[in-house]
Amino acid sequence: MRKTLSIAIVGKGGAGKTVITALMAKVISENFDCKMLLIDADPTHPHLSKLVDLNPSRTLEQIRSNVIQDTINKERSSQEIAETIDFNVYDSIVESKRFSLLSMGQPETPGCFCPSNLLMKRVLKSISNDFDLILIDCEAGLEQIHRMVFDEIDLILVISDISLRSIETAVSIKKSAQKFIKFKKLYLVLNKVKGDISFILSKLDSYKLELIASIPEDNLIIEYEMLGKHMLDIDNESISLNSIRDLVKKVMIQ
Ligand SMILES: Nc1ncnc2c1ncn2[C@@H]1O[C@H](COP(=O)(O)OP(=O)(O)OP(=O)(O)O)[C@@H](O)[C@H]1O
Ligand SMILES: [Mg+2]
Repeated sequence: MRKTLSIAIVGKGGAGKTVITALMAKVISENFDCKMLLIDADPTHPHLSKLVDLNPSRTLEQIRSNVIQDTINKERSSQEIAETIDFNVYDSIVESKRFSLLSMGQPETPGCFCPSNLLMKRVLKSISNDFDLILIDCEAGLEQIHRMVFDEIDLILVISDISLRSIETAVSIKKSAQKFIKFKKLYLVLNKVKGDISFILSKLDSYKLELIASIPEDNLIIEYEMLGKHMLDIDNESISLNSIRDLVKKVMIQ
């Protein structure tokens, strides 16, 4: 059985999780021969598919809602329901030459995100062995760690901008992860870096955060976002892409 490397990309809202996931996926697909699955696990801001130019026909949430309807309308055994979910989950993974994508989606019904997170947890368990690498673009904050959406993950990348508040969120995420889930390593990625950040860097030791990469603020990303363009054909000379290449090298030798 192959060994899957699973990476969760977490952090404060707006820190750059989705952009970094998309750029990492681009760099990995161009430099490594591996079967990669991207998971858009953010039910509130599901933007990853747009940034990687893939359009899933169905989300996990739509599957869950269809199965519920189906179960209400017909009498189904639990075995049949489980098989339907498995089949539909595989069917909802959209593929390109570079990678595959599974999207959690926004809940179709009112209520909290617990059932969605629970389904995501089951799906992760059942499909992870089919891929060499899984990149998960998570919801902002601590929720998915608290809900133990992944009870085991290899690597957690906590994305933070250069504000103290964002760094403090990173500290809370690390504490939650240590309490609630099994992981091998957790690193900090500083994003949108500009100007003198010596104050923030001086805090990292006392916060026990290990910095793996600093991604500069990149006008090209801002321009691409303004025009609604995906990130896959961003100029190879882009300043952020150089730092993402370094990050990917470090991550892939884990
Ligand atoms: N290195 C960068 N340089 C310039 N702008 C950036 C950079 N990284 C991210 N951004 C911009 O910051 C904003 C937030 O990025 P993104 O959507 O990736 O954050 P997020 O952490 O996924 O947010 P959310 O918590 O809402 O999911 C976007 O407008 C994005 O283009
Ligand atoms: Mg996001």
